[in-house]
Amino acid sequence: MNIARKDLIHWKDWETEEILDLLHLAERTEASPLEFSDSLKAKTLLMLFQKTSTRTRVSFEVAMTELGGHAIFLDWRASNLGLTKTWYEAAYLSSNCHVLMARVKENRELAELQKGSSVPVINGCCNKYHPCQALADFLTLKQDAGTFAGLRLTYLGVLNNVANSLLSLAYAFKVHVTLVCPIRPISDMDMEILERMRDAGLLTETLNPQEAVKDADYVYTDTWVNMEYFYEPSAKDLKDERIRTMLPFQLNHELLAHSKAKVMHDMPIHPGYEITEELVVDPRSIIFTQAKNRLPAQKAILLRLLGVA
Ligand code: CP
Repeated sequence: MNIARKDLIHWKDWETEEILDLLHLAERTEASPLEFSDSLKAKTLLMLFQKTSTRTRVSFEVAMTELGGHAIFLDWRASNLGLTKTWYEAAYLSSNCHVLMARVKENRELAELQKGSSVPVINGCCNKYHPCQALADFLTLKQDAGTFAGLRLTYLGVLNNVANSLLSLAYAFKVHVTLVCPIRPISDMDMEILERMRDAGLLTETLNPQEAVKDADYVYTDTWVNMEYFYEPSAKDLKDERIRTMLPFQLNHELLAHSKAKVMHDMPIHPGYEITEELVVDPRSIIFTQAKNRLPAQKAILLRLLGVA
């Protein structure tokens, strides 16, 4: 492994200035796409998926196309990844490709990919983190609010990978977060980032959703059940239990009746569960801008990790 190599597994080992540079670079790719149209010429991104995806796959592939490079999609189950040690396969993959992006079920698989890889590794979502989504979300906040100063974000949902990555960037940019998280799966939590936020005085934790959204500038929610379990018959009991626990915390018009907060969701959306259909298309929703911003955010990540910008 190249020890000088920079990877993106989570944001905790990135400096605030580096992340801010990524946001500026993302904005430059949007404002001047032609400036970057050959930046990754003859470079190949390997996109490895253990789980389903719409946005991550499409936005990374489009990013490589628009930067003059190429992307290969590899389904974990249709490859030989499951037959051997992950790091052996990563050693091979990195000999033919210039950057690896992987969506995996368990964070430890990313460590194996890092161990074998001689090229940068990007976390395309694991059980603990979703750093690319968080960068797109903070790009959206920056564009929508104009500044991070004084912003208050409320997250209602399971304390999961999306929440962990949001907390990391909130810590970097000193954005206050209120967590309304009645379900906190130990295996997916990041105690370190919670402690950092608490110590910095940037975190409120409550189970009172009305209180939590009252002064929020943005309210964010996410799926209550991980995508691989949503239609899995063996996970029915888990899903039913989560729905029972989480329904009082649904994002809906009634909850936001006395709040000016804008509405965020990382998608895919399960209308009628974590959010009502009416709120998805309400003028206060910035959900589709978040999804659109995956493209410039990931262009910036690719350019920076490949040392091109
Ligand atoms: N938000 C997100 O990562 O979308 P996909 O699961 O469709 O990639």
